[in-house]
Amino acid sequence: MHFQQLMSAVIVCALLLLTGCAEKVPETSMDGIYTAAQADRGAGLFESLCARCHSVQEFSGRSFDAIWAGVPAAALYVRIANTMPLDQPGSLGIPQVTALMAHIFNENEMPAGDLPLEGDMEWLMTISLARPAH
Ligand code: HEC
Repeated sequence: MHFQQLMSAVIVCALLLLTGCAEKVPETSMDGIYTAAQADRGAGLFESLCARCHSVQEFSGRSFDAIWAGVPAAALYVRIANTMPLDQPGSLGIPQVTALMAHIFNENEMPAGDLPLEGDMEWLMTISLARPAH
């Protein structure tokens, strides 16, 4: 093998390693853990199910940080699924809760990704809530 061929082989390997690292496992809500379509659905649900008591600003920016920064995403899931809407707790299905979460993430400028957010509790326990630093 010529030296140049060897070098290009080394470079190709290094690039493969880098791309491998780029596809890292999500760790926070900044890692693209919901889809834009899901957030759109969530916005509609929020209007019909939540807006008579809440504005989404309550769950955005500093208000979001005050309660949710650093908390596992599972806690937000459980809070919505088990206690909201206040007068009909437990009435939401998994796809509704995840869509509502996606809407809240989107309002907080957390980036969307390719895969929808799922209501997998074990996985949601490993994701910590974080929004962009401003
Ligand atoms: C009938 C009024 C009512 C409706 C409808 C309602 N909520 Fe609430 N929600 C409240 C009240 C009051 C509180 C605070 C008191 C408490 O802790 O229960 C609250 C608290 C919360 C909290 C925790 C506090 C925070 O700032 O993070 C979340 C999250 C939440 N609601 C989400 C929702 C979502 C999502 C919906 C729509 C599915 C919804 N709520 C519908 C009345 C309501």
